[in-house]
Amino acid sequence: MNTSSAASLFSQLSTKAELDLANGIKQKFEQDSKRVEDFSQTLGQLYFDFSKSHIDQDLIDLYAHYAELQGCEQKRHAFLSGQRINTSEDRSVLHTLLRDTDNQNIAMQETGALSQAKQAKQQFSEQYSLIQANLKARAVPIKSIIHVGIGGSSLGTQLLYEALKELGDEREIHFVGNIDAHQLMSVFDQCDVQSTLVIGVSKTFTTAETLKNLESISDWFKKNGVVNPLENFYGVTANPKQALAYGIAEQNVVTFPQWVGGRYSVWSSVSLSAALLLGKEKFDLFLQGAASIDQHFYTADLKQNVCFQAAALDHYYANFMGVRSKAIFAYDYRFRSLVDYLQQLETESNGKDRTAEGTPVEQKTSMVVWGGVGTDVQHSVFQMLHQGTSLIPAEFILVKTPSHDLVEHHNELLANGVAQTAALLAGQTLDEVEQRHAKENLSEIAKKAKIFSGDRPSLTILLEKLTPTVLGALLAFYEHRVFFGGVLTGINSFDQMGVELGKHLAKQVRPLIDKGDISGHRFDASTAHLLKKIID
Ligand code: F6P
Repeated sequence: MNTSSAASLFSQLSTKAELDLANGIKQKFEQDSKRVEDFSQTLGQLYFDFSKSHIDQDLIDLYAHYAELQGCEQKRHAFLSGQRINTSEDRSVLHTLLRDTDNQNIAMQETGALSQAKQAKQQFSEQYSLIQANLKARAVPIKSIIHVGIGGSSLGTQLLYEALKELGDEREIHFVGNIDAHQLMSVFDQCDVQSTLVIGVSKTFTTAETLKNLESISDWFKKNGVVNPLENFYGVTANPKQALAYGIAEQNVVTFPQWVGGRYSVWSSVSLSAALLLGKEKFDLFLQGAASIDQHFYTADLKQNVCFQAAALDHYYANFMGVRSKAIFAYDYRFRSLVDYLQQLETESNGKDRTAEGTPVEQKTSMVVWGGVGTDVQHSVFQMLHQGTSLIPAEFILVKTPSHDLVEHHNELLANGVAQTAALLAGQTLDEVEQRHAKENLSEIAKKAKIFSGDRPSLTILLEKLTPTVLGALLAFYEHRVFFGGVLTGINSFDQMGVELGKHLAKQVRPLIDKGDISGHRFDASTAHLLKKIID
């Protein structure tokens, strides 16, 4: 990167941010009658409205220039053409191939990865059909699937299942990730061994929580009279040797390629459990929805690219407006796991302090991602969103058409979501408080407490309907935004070394707790004291 150009660009962005903060967003609407048309876009069944944020043409131009300095387009090409952009693990990142192996725009050429992807898709289809046939042939039909996996080996599948559950059959999936056996116990209470299938999902098949949970489930089967529990276990993994070593029968091992990262694996056989319930056709529609956004991500000029615009705004807020967190509010109960999924996607991908070349990053990387489901959140955290002293960009996801017929509920839900975006923008001045509450004889203190600064940014994504295609498109938008976020800050978005140290230390702590003796430990005084309190 040309550092003097970058420095001058950053100084322009910094001056712009000061002005933007001083002038606010409302002023942008006053100055541009076409603001909504200029800064909103419809892609298939998704409508993106950026106009209630600090976006403007200057911002887009400055970031397009910065993207040039960062080699954004070359990196996008490197990503999709299978170059080893995961530098620390020396791997390609090709989960997009699972969504579309035919489009040469994206796949570029017949690389080895492309044929691997075709093979992986073909293999998954065949195994899927075989498993469905086996399930049909069972004397006692399966009523429950226990999906055992953690992080990327579960969050996407859980989201997929919950979002589209009503399109699937009546079987239930229970997700077990945590090593905390309270979770497992509650699943045991809801299942019986005769009608339960277990799918263990782990890219590495070495994750301690997953292996221990599988073992305890196997013991539970045995305790309940099943002589050979592993017959009911499938293993989904990129490391089949390890799954076989664990004891999963060869015909029950379902693989996916190494170049599918954990948090990018919802498109692969990792979603076997949800795909079994939804049906393969709907799972394929989910992939197609994502592929439609892949097209936009790859072909749209950066200045019109919604994934890039969202990433540029994230970068602007974090680096020039001192923003530390952003909040995502889906106004749809079916999206109750969306924030967990997006938290991992963004923070595990971009929460880094080294560049892809190993030097310290001199910018702010991933913001804290949090949020929840509307309208519940309005009665808890929205106070801070509207009147807190931190600027928190908010994202609203609304679904136009529900899948139930309680129209009044849905209209009220939408009204609330829309009203919140309007309130964040408009705020409320003292004059407005006095007018709105003219008849109430409010004290001066009460009036002042009702002042809202407004000019708080939000992005709204309106979905026509929650279908497999729309869900796929929405998640692909978030993935590509994270990609651009990584490129803008110069990091490798595809490793997760930051999770390792704690795992390593847990291995040292565990024997001390098991033995009830911490002598010989090498921990700091606080940790030693804590351990002593636990074992005493
Ligand atoms: O500890 C973090 C992590 O490696 C995630 O990146 C991953 O999604 C999760 O653990 C589960 O890993 P695995 O799929 O190998 O069990």
